[in-house]
Amino acid sequence: MLSKQILSATAALSMVSGVFGVGCDDPTATIASQADATQLAECETIEGSVLISASAADTTIDLGGKLTEIGGDLTAENNGLLNTFQSDSLETIGGAFTLKNVTKLSTLSFPKLGEVGSIDWATLNALPEPTFGNPGITKAKSVVIADTFIENIDGINVDSLTDMNINNNRRLTKFSTSIKSLSNTLIIQANGLNLSMEMPNLQWIANMTISNVTSFSVPSLHTVNGSMRFDSNYFETFIAANLTDIQDGDLSFVSNPQLTNISIPTLTHIGGGFTVANNTALEKLDGFGGLNEIGGAVKVRGSFTDVELPDLQDVKGAFEVVSTEDISSSCDDLKSYDNGVVQGDYSCKGNDQNANNDTSDASSDGSNGGGSDNTDSAASISGVSTFVTLVSVGAFVAAFL
Ligand SMILES: *[C@@H]1O[C@H](CO)[C@@H](O)[C@H](O)[C@H]1NC(C)=O
Ligand SMILES: *[C@@H]1O[C@H](CO)[C@@H](O)[C@H](O)[C@H]1NC(C)=O
Ligand SMILES: *[C@@H]1O[C@H](CO)[C@@H](O)[C@H](O)[C@H]1NC(C)=O
Ligand SMILES: *[C@@H]1O[C@H](CO)[C@@H](O)[C@H](O)[C@H]1NC(C)=O
Ligand SMILES: *[C@@H]1O[C@H](CO)[C@@H](O)[C@H](O)[C@H]1NC(C)=O
Ligand SMILES: *[C@@H]1O[C@H](CO)[C@@H](O)[C@H](O)[C@H]1NC(C)=O
Ligand SMILES: *[C@@H]1O[C@H](CO)[C@@H](O)[C@H](O)[C@H]1NC(C)=O
Ligand SMILES: *[C@@H]1O[C@H](CO)[C@@H](O)[C@H](O)[C@H]1NC(C)=O
Ligand SMILES: *[C@@H]1O[C@H](CO)[C@@H](O)[C@H](O)[C@H]1NC(C)=O
Repeated sequence: MLSKQILSATAALSMVSGVFGVGCDDPTATIASQADATQLAECETIEGSVLISASAADTTIDLGGKLTEIGGDLTAENNGLLNTFQSDSLETIGGAFTLKNVTKLSTLSFPKLGEVGSIDWATLNALPEPTFGNPGITKAKSVVIADTFIENIDGINVDSLTDMNINNNRRLTKFSTSIKSLSNTLIIQANGLNLSMEMPNLQWIANMTISNVTSFSVPSLHTVNGSMRFDSNYFETFIAANLTDIQDGDLSFVSNPQLTNISIPTLTHIGGGFTVANNTALEKLDGFGGLNEIGGAVKVRGSFTDVELPDLQDVKGAFEVVSTEDISSSCDDLKSYDNGVVQGDYSCKGNDQNANNDTSDASSDGSNGGGSDNTDSAASISGVSTFVTLVSVGAFVAAFL
């Protein structure tokens, strides 16, 4: 009986939705209060987008009801009052699930949500842990989580995605994800100081840039299509036991001060350059037993006593090994590479106090020049240009009931 009344109220409302409040068919339905949310939650499907107004004054917005699908985006931005945002019915968001600068948001609960176009969250200073169901979000193209207090994001269990960027989440100390493949770029940077990162199922990834991580595990990783780089991490050991190919890009380990062992024994090919620089605890570079072809240059600079690259057959670019220590024995072993294996300039020397000063990348192609490229990965927050505040229609619905 009640639902029939609500239905007729909703139907009546949708006729006038261009004038008052929110309707199922609005291109963008703007929620200014819980009453609007209650009304929208009566729609089973919303083809357009849903926006929580920056000036919505209710501290709880609950979109639970009949609503299972939003075709467009679901957005809350620049709202400093909202502390609970939830829906126990929403299953799909076709577009972006954007939460930015919602600084009081402490409860985010979407137990049925399984599919989103993308997740784009930034500046959520009060949110410790989003609540998703089990298995949680299993489909998303891209995930960006930046500058939040999130401690746990285990509810994101996507198999394959294009991009992921997790940065400046200072409370995040563990991130374990079941991702199997990632087709563009993974960036992990400036999260919790003790971040332990596990990607047990990752098989191939196009590019990854990992910084400020304390442990990192990719036991199944087989192929990197583009580049893989590790800057300023705190792990002692890096092992990628199944990695055989870095197809088109670079491999680099720069300024990882605790690193004592890099082991990628099955790696045979690096399409671009190979850089190992300023990892001052790394005494032996002996974990590249199978490496035989490098499409760019080799730049190995550090405090080594031993550098072994026993199987090299072709280096298209320059080859430079420099250590603060005496490596004359390694240089003797590597010397034969100057004759045919290395196509660019060859140099190998020890006892150079400046060995760790140069952290620029080895050239990615066969040219001899050095070079460096820095990608800035910090997420920025874009302001929302306009908010249309519509008249609340709670009273209107009540009149019909
Ligand atoms: C964040 O939202 C608050 C309102 O809660 C607003 O005053 C502030 O300007 C916003 N910050 C940015 C960077 O947009
Ligand atoms: C990366 O390489 C894997 C294994 O060869 C392949 O299956 C995948 O399609 C490649 N991905 C991209 C984005 O090139
Ligand atoms: C990081 O972990 C180590 C031991 O695992 C502990 O001693 C240290 O206090 C932790 N640091 C922080 C900032 O939690
Ligand atoms: C985090 O890594 C960046 C390099 O990506 C480095 O510049 C920065 O100093 C690191 N921060 C800490 C606290 O280690
Ligand atoms: C490593 O590769 C081998 C051979 O392809 C495979 O049998 C094994 O399961 C892989 N290990 C992991 C942890 O994925
Ligand atoms: C990622 O790697 C692919 C090669 O698989 C490359 O074409 C692409 O430009 C890379 N993307 C970035 C952002 O580096
Ligand atoms: C580095 O780690 C690998 C894999 O665990 C191990 O086989 C190797 O002995 C280690 N090397 C050093 C120098 O500790
Ligand atoms: C390199 O580092 C050493 C030791 O830290 C320092 O004395 C020297 O001036 C540096 N050289 C250059 C060229 O920056
Ligand atoms: C070398 O690494 C140390 C420790 O991570 C860092 O403080 C220093 O700035 C790095 N040197 C260069 C030239 O990047």
